[in-house]
Amino acid sequence: MTEYILKARPYTNEEAKKLLASVMSPETTDWHYNTHQKGYITKRNEIEKKLKDGGKALREAANANFSEFGELKRRETFNANGALLHELFWENLGGDGNIEKATELKKKIIEDFGSIEDWKSDFRATALSAKNSGWAVLAIDKLSDGKLRNLLVDEHGHGAIWGAQPLIACDVFEHAYYHKDGPKRAAYIDNFISNLHWGRIEERYKK
Ligand SMILES: [Fe+2]
Repeated sequence: MTEYILKARPYTNEEAKKLLASVMSPETTDWHYNTHQKGYITKRNEIEKKLKDGGKALREAANANFSEFGELKRRETFNANGALLHELFWENLGGDGNIEKATELKKKIIEDFGSIEDWKSDFRATALSAKNSGWAVLAIDKLSDGKLRNLLVDEHGHGAIWGAQPLIACDVFEHAYYHKDGPKRAAYIDNFISNLHWGRIEERYKK
């Protein structure tokens, strides 16, 4: 069985405090990664073990009203998506917000959204509209029309599109910004966009 691990960020815990200072409090750089993100990974491992160990008995008791099997399956997806989006979140951050470092993606954004400003304002509105436990995700809709889309995601998966590959993920769970910005989510979103590492985002897009 695969044991999932907490993926390293592109910077150390100490570096994160400086690099992400405009986006979140120093404490949040630690709590969000070492407690919240780690929690999704620990629980995912636990759930997969329970599903495996529970075997036939667990599967035979499955039903739509309540079953341990059903709840484990539900939370398996929740934790798997949570872990993945957080990996992307940290990879996205720690830059200077200069989109000129993403030549190809910049071209594609203009093609699909009209202009960088239009993309930004759509991404901002998407991040403002997600529930207090949600995400705004820029994704490329590979299995459909190949276009870029800003997806509004509640929790970690409601609103995702099958086959769309995420490129930028902005966490708007309250744990992401409350310690620094309180209820001012818009300020956090603007700071998030200004801190994007477009070089790494471009690399992901090219892949
Ligand atoms: Fe989070």
